[in-house]
Amino acid sequence: MQNKRRIIVTSALPYANGDIHIGHLVEYLQTDFWVRFQKMRGNDCLYVCADDTHGTPIMIRARKEGRPPEALIDEMRERHTRDFSDFQISFDNYYSTNSPENKAFCEDIYAKLEAAGALITERVGQLWCPQCGMFLPDRFVRGTCPHCGKEDQYGDSCESCSATYSPSDLKDAHCATCGCRDLETRETEHLLFDLAKYREYLREWLPKHTQADVANKLSEWFGEDQKLLPWDVSRDAPYFGFEIPGHPGKYFYVWLDAPVGYLASLKNLCSRTGRSFEETWGDPDAERYHFIGKDIVRFHCLFWPAMLHAAGYQGPTRVFVHGFLTVNGEKMSKARGTFLNARTYLDHLDPAALRYYYACKINNSTDDIDLNLDDFAQRVNSDLVGKITNLASRGAQMLGKRLDGRLGSLDDEGRTLLAAARDRADAIAALYEDRKFSQIPVEACRIADAANEYFDRHAPWKSIKTDPEGTRAVLTSVLNLFRVIAIYLAPILPVYARKAAALFGEGDWTWDSLSETVEGREIGPYEYLATRVDPAAVEAMVESAKPKAAPAAAAAPAAPAAAPAAAPKTPAKPQIEFPAFDAIDLRVGLVESCTAVPKSKKLVRFELDCGPLGHRTIFSGIRSAYPDPSVLNGRQVVFVANLAPREMKGVGVSEGMVLTAGEPDTGLAVLTTLAPVNPGDPAC
Ligand code: MSP
Ligand code: ZN
Repeated sequence: MQNKRRIIVTSALPYANGDIHIGHLVEYLQTDFWVRFQKMRGNDCLYVCADDTHGTPIMIRARKEGRPPEALIDEMRERHTRDFSDFQISFDNYYSTNSPENKAFCEDIYAKLEAAGALITERVGQLWCPQCGMFLPDRFVRGTCPHCGKEDQYGDSCESCSATYSPSDLKDAHCATCGCRDLETRETEHLLFDLAKYREYLREWLPKHTQADVANKLSEWFGEDQKLLPWDVSRDAPYFGFEIPGHPGKYFYVWLDAPVGYLASLKNLCSRTGRSFEETWGDPDAERYHFIGKDIVRFHCLFWPAMLHAAGYQGPTRVFVHGFLTVNGEKMSKARGTFLNARTYLDHLDPAALRYYYACKINNSTDDIDLNLDDFAQRVNSDLVGKITNLASRGAQMLGKRLDGRLGSLDDEGRTLLAAARDRADAIAALYEDRKFSQIPVEACRIADAANEYFDRHAPWKSIKTDPEGTRAVLTSVLNLFRVIAIYLAPILPVYARKAAALFGEGDWTWDSLSETVEGREIGPYEYLATRVDPAAVEAMVESAKPKAAPAAAAAPAAPAAAPAAAPKTPAKPQIEFPAFDAIDLRVGLVESCTAVPKSKKLVRFELDCGPLGHRTIFSGIRSAYPDPSVLNGRQVVFVANLAPREMKGVGVSEGMVLTAGEPDTGLAVLTTLAPVNPGDPAC
């Protein structure tokens, strides 16, 4: 192993005035992939984050809710940490910007900025709401656009004509919070950070510390129109934040204390773990990385590095900028039910599915990332479940049932395949390191395809009858191939990997685990690793995220106002009595092969080993749920054994019915069983 690197990683601090949504998760998940990878490599990597708690919106919301802002931010921090942990995001510390450490750092940096002559004072006129008793930030003033006349626009820019202006230019300016129209302009003194002083420093710093397109875009700031204007870092009381030493009634602007929160969270972690903060953040050999979205680039690539430099602190090694999430090709939308909170997702679906899908989409560019919900279900089902997990479930279940759960040794072909799979280790490590995550599932599927091809060609469900030891070698090879894939995916699917490691009797994997081969040992019981994404669950999730229709007014006609998802549906078929059910003879059969019926869009053909009932051919109209029906090979399925044989036009006779369950047309899945089927036993 190479020398241990010392790495500090942050994700942007989410605002404490809202819940975590699936857009945020684009960032927290990719950071988590990267950090987990670094830890698996044996590097000393610390991942810190915090809630961003200060500023006007939080103060106003707390006021409206009639409680102190501290109560609001405590509650939000709990909600955030629960969402993150349920998404398997593992911070080394999750702290708060409203902390003593943060206050101390802000004061220290402020004193150093002052000493460096980096601060200037300016008198500015700002709108004041007499009813709220506060200065109004631009976004808290609304009125009519002075350019196009569009009503109800924010104080800084018009959403209709994109003009930018100052709030006092608005016609009919009023307070967004209380509606007051008698706004005054009051003079007040502000403290500003003299950004232009660090022009040359930043100009050199930028191209070396972020992606080329980001640096390019920011070079606009160095142009003739002098955009490196002094940055206003103070706000007047009332404000929820830290008061500026020596300036009673003045507070640090939230965007000053927020990035300082990275240091505060790290310092808090250091104190708890007996490390020195100075030797951690300040270590000249340490690497410091910020993951952020492209909307907050100027704060992280201009103000922050200039501020740290001016105050004599180490700056970031690199700022990794990502794009924004779209859902089904469009901006997340409340009306369409695609503005999905993390919790809404968790109420309906498995977090591992989103982790896998985001990995398929995220790379090191600033391009937007699309979550197409159909593609999401399809990709997770066909690749993660159908190709990758299927190796483990078919291999481990057959080994467990038919061969006492004991691995043998690999056969020659298995060894060759395993060597080829391991040969990808450096390439895959480089993909992680470079944040080209989207290539990693592609690599994993390539290995899985080869392993599935090998499995199907050796047809262990047939060879088991004549050559148990040869079959053991095939299953051992398949399971070792699966193991390598699961190690490669462990940073993306940590819980999955932990369960997979347990199957082989191992603890948490490291990157070095790749070089081991598991042979001659007993495997543990097979635990479900991943479940199919049911399109009906996706639909229910989207429905539940749509705004609920307002309760119908008493006088209004009784329209069907209730959201469709809320009302339980009745089954599609009439109720039956027990004898009708009891007449059905259910059995378990082993799928020798499942293939698409040529020229049919709907049908697949099962060849089943039905134990005491012999062999059967059954046709089933489930092709849309199983685009690649071979994923069912080697599975035990439940079928109706006493259904009258039926001639299927032009394809043959169907000797029974394979059971599926789910919503009609969507989300059908074949029922499979884990129970051992001993030939000779009446099944099931
Ligand atoms: N509080 C500031 C960050 C302070 S960092 C010192 C903030 N908070 S945020 O909650 O709005 O966003 C947190 C992170 O999530 C940001 O990096 C932001 O770019 C990212 N995302 C928020 N919505 C997003 C999408 N829809 N898509 C992708 N990332 C998004 O900004
Ligand atoms: Zn007001």
